Amino acid sequence: MTIGIIGAGALGSNIARLLAKHGLSATIANSRGPASLKALTEELQPLIKAGTVQEAASADIVVVAVRWVDIEKALNGLPAWNRRIVIDGTNPVAFLDADSPDAKDPNNPLAAYGIKAIDLAGKHSSQVVGEAVPGARVVKAFNHLDVRVLPEPTASGGQRVLFYSGDDVDAKAEVRKLIEAVGYFPVDLGPLAVGGSLSGLPFGSLAGVNLVRI
Ligand SMILES: NC(=O)c1ccc[n+]([C@@H]2O[C@H](COP(=O)([O-])OP(=O)(O)OC[C@H]3O[C@@H](n4cnc5c(N)ncnc54)[C@H](OP(=O)(O)O)[C@@H]3O)[C@@H](O)[C@H]2O)c1
Repeated sequence: MTIGIIGAGALGSNIARLLAKHGLSATIANSRGPASLKALTEELQPLIKAGTVQEAASADIVVVAVRWVDIEKALNGLPAWNRRIVIDGTNPVAFLDADSPDAKDPNNPLAAYGIKAIDLAGKHSSQVVGEAVPGARVVKAFNHLDVRVLPEPTASGGQRVLFYSGDDVDAKAEVRKLIEAVGYFPVDLGPLAVGGSLSGLPFGSLAGVNLVRI
């Protein structure tokens, strides 16, 4: 089972750290190309290799770890998905410039955090991501924890909980195995429409919840 990661920032690089720590290999890509990921691949060699977005997107399991506003561009023109698994690690938020009107908008409850919720016009977030990866089986996971704890699945003598959700039972089973392989305790939140909303930032009631199974 090969793994690709599209996006090598806070989320993508820490998923790569988590995988490498547990002996799993992956190809990771960003918008600037493999050479720009030298420091990360030196840190995580030999298991984590930098590649093009096309290469990362050709894996059996592809993690999407780009900002919401970049999803369309990052996932455009990639090889056919053919029921391969896409793990949606994104959240529908926009990061704001401190000087932008949105950052000072009194009607934006998230202004103090420097973010704004994106209006999905009645869709749930993985539905939107699913439209960008037609034919893939989407599982939402790795989106709800602060990335600073992500490479460390054990805490207080127990295992951190990782929520996941999806509409395809077999794809979810594969992702569950992956979550277990990296030391987390997986908790199935049901279909995407339910689990994605519960675990997704900014308003999901389980977003940012860091449970430890003792
Ligand atoms: N940060 C967190 O704590 C956290 C936790 C859970 C979930 N998330 C979610 O994870 C996603 C990524 O957040 P982040 O904090 O990791 O963002 P980030 O640090 O800004 O990283 C974004 C990454 O996406 C890459 N990228 C942008 N456009 C691309 C394109 N067209 N093709 C390929 N790669 C592209 C960037 O590459 P370049 O730098 O080369 O442009 C960068 O590596 C967001 O949806 C966020 O909501 C974040």
